[in-house]
Amino acid sequence: MLNNFLARPNNFPLRRLFWRFWYNYFASKYQDINIVLMNYGYTDFKTDRLSLDHTDERERYCIQLYHHVANVVPLEGLDVLEVGCGRGGGASYLRRYLNPQSVTGVDFSANNIQFCRQRHQMLGLEFSVDDAESLSLPDHAFDAVVNIESSHCYRQIERFFSEVFRVLRPQGYFLFADFRPQEAVEATRKQLIKAGFSILKQEAITANVLAAMDLENERKLGIIKTKIPVGFHGLARWFAGIQGSPVYEAFHQGDLEYWCYLLQQSHPSQG
Ligand SMILES: C[S@@+](CC[C@H](N)C(=O)[O-])C[C@H]1O[C@@H](n2cnc3c(N)ncnc32)[C@H](O)[C@@H]1O
Repeated sequence: MLNNFLARPNNFPLRRLFWRFWYNYFASKYQDINIVLMNYGYTDFKTDRLSLDHTDERERYCIQLYHHVANVVPLEGLDVLEVGCGRGGGASYLRRYLNPQSVTGVDFSANNIQFCRQRHQMLGLEFSVDDAESLSLPDHAFDAVVNIESSHCYRQIERFFSEVFRVLRPQGYFLFADFRPQEAVEATRKQLIKAGFSILKQEAITANVLAAMDLENERKLGIIKTKIPVGFHGLARWFAGIQGSPVYEAFHQGDLEYWCYLLQQSHPSQG
């Protein structure tokens, strides 16, 4: 039931309200400036030797997910939008390591954006409050859109895909990763094609994410025990993907799958 509510698009009208409350609550209670990423992470099993500044080591696996999803096209010199940027660590990583001209991070949690503006101050990196399903950004303003582990919160995923299509320049890239119930994966693929994207790459990375969750288990448990009020521990364990939590078990059993995509804006009318 919990997995159903949290991961299945379109089923629950209160989905957005719930998630907005949760992320605003988490950001207001949890001010640790060293925690800037909130995804389940990625390991390639072999090397995990992505060269990182020592200040980024703490969240290596979360950064590796960004690296795996975004480092498939050269972003150097491009204008990049990240939708659902959370605490800004991914947008900061993109700006510092992949050298785009600009990164704009948006999130519907005002508290997250306030945290991002204070925590990540650098040239070419901006943050604003915005909703993935109705972006207040101009048409054709970005060369690439990044979206990582955020779309399972959206009420109408089709609206998000059409917004990404609208804000991308012709032939722009959509770098997208998230989990879905196994039976919804094909529907997501069809929705992407219907929105006008060409699928250049589609990859199941559930095993890589699950292995990262194992490697991160103790660190995340420590955060929950020390920083989150006891009444929210159950939800926080789900949210963090702690071993034994419903989401962890669903990945193990194959009920939830984690996918990443490289897509290109290529509607015929755009040439
Ligand atoms: C699991 S966090 C991931 C954050 C970030 N991508 C990362 O990997 O650290 C999901 C984020 O999506 C944001 N989000 C959820 N629904 C949204 C919406 N409709 N519009 C914009 N952001 C949204 C949440 O506020 C949260 O920050």
